[in-house]
Amino acid sequence: MNRTKFFLLLAAVIIATICTIFGKMRPLPIERIERWTFDWHYSKTPEPKEIENLVLVLAGEPSFEQLGAWPWQRQTHARLLGWLGYSKSIMFDIIVPEKTIPSQDSVLANVIKTLENVIVAGHVSTHAGVDQLILPIKEVYDAAAEFGITNVNKDIDGLLRGHIPFRLTSSGHIVSLPVANAAFLTNSIPRILDSKQKQMVLGSRSIPLSDSGEVWVHYSNTEITQYEYVDILKGKISPEVFKDKIVIVGVSASGASDFYSVPQFPGSKVISGAEYNARTLLTLLWSDIPVRISPWIAAILCFIAAMVGAACSRLKPVLALTVLGVTLVSTISLFHLCFVHLAIWIDLAMPIISIIVSFIILQGLHFAFVHRDWEIQSRSLDSITAIDIQYVNRYKDFSEYLKAIWEKFGLLKQIQLVNARIKEEQLEPQFIPESNSLKIIKPGPNGMRYGVAIPTKGGFEKREFVLLGWNESVEESTIKTLTAVVLSNAWFFNSYKEAAKRKDVLLKTINAIFLALDFRDPITGGHSTRVSSIALEILKLMIDKRIILENNSDLVEDIYLGALVHDVGKIGIPDTILLKEGKLTKEEFDTIKAHPQIGFDIMKTAGLPETSINVLLQHHERYNGTGYPNGLIGEDISFGARVVAVADVYDALTCDRPYRKGWTSKKTCELIESLRGTDFDPVIVDVFLELKAMQNTAKVLQNLTNFTSFRFDYRILLILNISIYFNCLNLISKTTVKSGILNASLHKWDFSDHI
Ligand SMILES: [Fe+2]
Repeated sequence: MNRTKFFLLLAAVIIATICTIFGKMRPLPIERIERWTFDWHYSKTPEPKEIENLVLVLAGEPSFEQLGAWPWQRQTHARLLGWLGYSKSIMFDIIVPEKTIPSQDSVLANVIKTLENVIVAGHVSTHAGVDQLILPIKEVYDAAAEFGITNVNKDIDGLLRGHIPFRLTSSGHIVSLPVANAAFLTNSIPRILDSKQKQMVLGSRSIPLSDSGEVWVHYSNTEITQYEYVDILKGKISPEVFKDKIVIVGVSASGASDFYSVPQFPGSKVISGAEYNARTLLTLLWSDIPVRISPWIAAILCFIAAMVGAACSRLKPVLALTVLGVTLVSTISLFHLCFVHLAIWIDLAMPIISIIVSFIILQGLHFAFVHRDWEIQSRSLDSITAIDIQYVNRYKDFSEYLKAIWEKFGLLKQIQLVNARIKEEQLEPQFIPESNSLKIIKPGPNGMRYGVAIPTKGGFEKREFVLLGWNESVEESTIKTLTAVVLSNAWFFNSYKEAAKRKDVLLKTINAIFLALDFRDPITGGHSTRVSSIALEILKLMIDKRIILENNSDLVEDIYLGALVHDVGKIGIPDTILLKEGKLTKEEFDTIKAHPQIGFDIMKTAGLPETSINVLLQHHERYNGTGYPNGLIGEDISFGARVVAVADVYDALTCDRPYRKGWTSKKTCELIESLRGTDFDPVIVDVFLELKAMQNTAKVLQNLTNFTSFRFDYRILLILNISIYFNCLNLISKTTVKSGILNASLHKWDFSDHI
């Protein structure tokens, strides 16, 4: 496992742990979302068919208009209950706490007592922290079949989502009105099953409670049959409709302020207190009340969800989003099925948040790490490029070169070099790239996941390739980087080798020119080569004596090149003058004196450095101004020309001529010494004489010859490679490989640093 994978895994575990903690704690903002998902799930569960057994009798606006303001006479309530006599039970959700006219109170109490199925309501008021139980008048309370309180408890968002079946007061545990009604109907005593108050037993039913001891009330859009209070009083409704029904009597007029907001996904709705009690009763008796999973299980689910999100982040974008989408939809569906069919409420919000948050954060981190890796690869490319050039001269073929440097691609070791040199006819058809484009093939060679063939020679025409294969775990950016590196190395290698061929051609061409000159003037044959060697010896000694700096290699090379071609202008001198054996006339000598200018004119078109062509032009100038063609004095003559002037005279005098025997080295040196400060630069003369005086001249010459050969190759190569280099850049700019690294690496190539 590499560092990137380790850090991403560590980040995934940390995120999953945080999600787990949130899943266990169920913080309020998350819990509100959890409630919304609960509302949606619960609204989709079927309504018990027993809802048909419920009937609401509500005192609405019409009743108040006809019966007057509250409170109504107790006889009125007694008359209403009389019409409801055939019902199974009557939940009388109207509190009659105060005594009125004793006869009327007695009438109501007698009716309730006679019916034996009336459950009357009370209420607990809390003032200054002290509970006060508000009961109906004693006669009514005593006559009722059951008694319950109408207190409600709002949920975290202000909605009546849960119902408290028991309330602990200073008078002990008191059941709610719906629970009292349910107990009456089931002829049982409701009780809490365990000390943690997570379950209530009602007859044969076991009712799950929430963590706060509430029953989740089931709401639906199915209307409960309801009648207007006053319509029943006036006989508009047959008593038969109430036969064996569960009747809930309450107030629904706006002035009574007995209204509550309850959930109705995706929002809420307002219902009367009587309807709330009716739906609570329905829930208690017949609904499938969901059991919520424990916080610990919810926490584990969050951990798993976060890890799933993290895993998705490692996939390719399209696949990742697809998997993520399928996971979310299947999770929601599975959780919903559990809710509807198994009545298990599994926390959904936090696991979904865990998946999404984990996915997004890991994607972001992965993106950041990829960029970091990209930088690492960029830095590595510098070293790879440097190493490559060290290897270029060693191998004739790019395939050998690539094999040699392959181990240097440390970051890319997961990618196998299947074949460093493969011809088109040996390549399986699917690997052959289309014109001017690269393609990644699946499956790759040798059972690998992917493969790519990179053209490495002659662009896309010559059809020679490097074949790579790699596994799925390799980043796409990595293979693109590697492709760019291989491609740019191939271009560099081939360009370099092509340049070397051109260098050979130029050297042969120059040699051919010298051969032609020697053939034309055999007397001075080899003069230019010897002069350039002597000049180089002088320069080397000047470096040793620190008269010129060692790192001034450009100057040395340019002077050497100038010395090599210093007499090339003689090609423009007529044979009759150049080859004349006798003494030259003044006119003929003037013609000869034109050869520096002729040579200068020829070679400046070849793009030689200024130092080199100054040697051509000034090698017959003299230190005291008596030379030609321009009569320059002292240091107005270029340094190179002053060096070559000494070497030129030495070689000319020591060589045999048809009309004289060549001077000895000693005699020539004496002459040169005599011209110190007049014809020649005194410093250069001193160095030259010291050079000649050295006992180990032969060894020095041998060393300098090696140095000469090496540096000369470089100079010729540089001149020619300027155009090749830019051609190479033009070629690269046309490639379809979109990689900034590719061009960046090519621009980093500096011939002088590596050759
Ligand atoms: Fe000359």
